Amino acid sequence: MIVEIKDLYKSYENGKIKALNGINLTIEEGEFVSIIGPSGSGKSTLLNMLGALDVPDSGSITVAGEDLASSKRLNEFRATSIGFVFQLHNLIPNISVRENIEIPMYTQGMSSGEMKAKALKLLDDVGLRDKADIMPNKLSGGERQRVAIARALANDPSIILADEPTGSLDSKTSTRILRQLIDLHEHKNVTLIIVTHDMDVAKLADRTIEVLDGEIISAGDESLINSKIDL
Ligand SMILES: Nc1ncnc2c1ncn2[C@@H]1O[C@H](COP(=O)(O)OP(=O)(O)OP(=O)(O)O)[C@@H](O)[C@H]1O
Ligand SMILES: [Mg+2]
Repeated sequence: MIVEIKDLYKSYENGKIKALNGINLTIEEGEFVSIIGPSGSGKSTLLNMLGALDVPDSGSITVAGEDLASSKRLNEFRATSIGFVFQLHNLIPNISVRENIEIPMYTQGMSSGEMKAKALKLLDDVGLRDKADIMPNKLSGGERQRVAIARALANDPSIILADEPTGSLDSKTSTRILRQLIDLHEHKNVTLIIVTHDMDVAKLADRTIEVLDGEIISAGDESLINSKIDL
């Protein structure tokens, strides 16, 4: 099990907004899971919890063996275990595409030559080798997403968290980006967790988790039913 969440609660605005309302969820290593649900239902909040970008009010969350509610090494956890592909707050504008990809490598004790070589290989994989030295604002939206994927892979993460990775892209670019993510799941046993509004994307996953008002209303397997029986 790579993710185990028990009775997770998260509210904002002094408890007025209940973003997560008692989440129970397990995800196996190497699974490809999609998360769907209406706007405001808590999908991004859940993804942020998984990536240790936000802290729960109560409940437990273990990701890749790390107890995130009590861990004292969250920076290291994020840097070594997780690859983030988020649609907004994406690339750093005033450094080159290649340097953006090298950022997660700084915690890995690599030489600058090693970082450069690895960044170029990752760019090659997403078809953007020739854009290595330009600034991200010269790229199209789809190209930026591909750079974000390359950056997410810079540390060989065991889990990739993607929040609407294809949200504003045309269908051709969207298919290409999904293909790249799914390849990692299929060939490198990476656990892939994708939040999406697009049912065609959601259906590609091994299972789909449906969130409504901060609760999981279906998890695409028996786990929810079992946990209800336990209660
Ligand atoms: N930092 C924050 N401060 C206050 N409220 C927040 C914060 N982040 C999220 N919320 C609220 O928590 C709820 C869940 O938000 P979340 O971003 O998880 O929704 P979502 O399912 O990702 O929606 P969307 O599909 O629009 O991205 C919403 O009511 C949102 O307004
Ligand atoms: Mg969201």
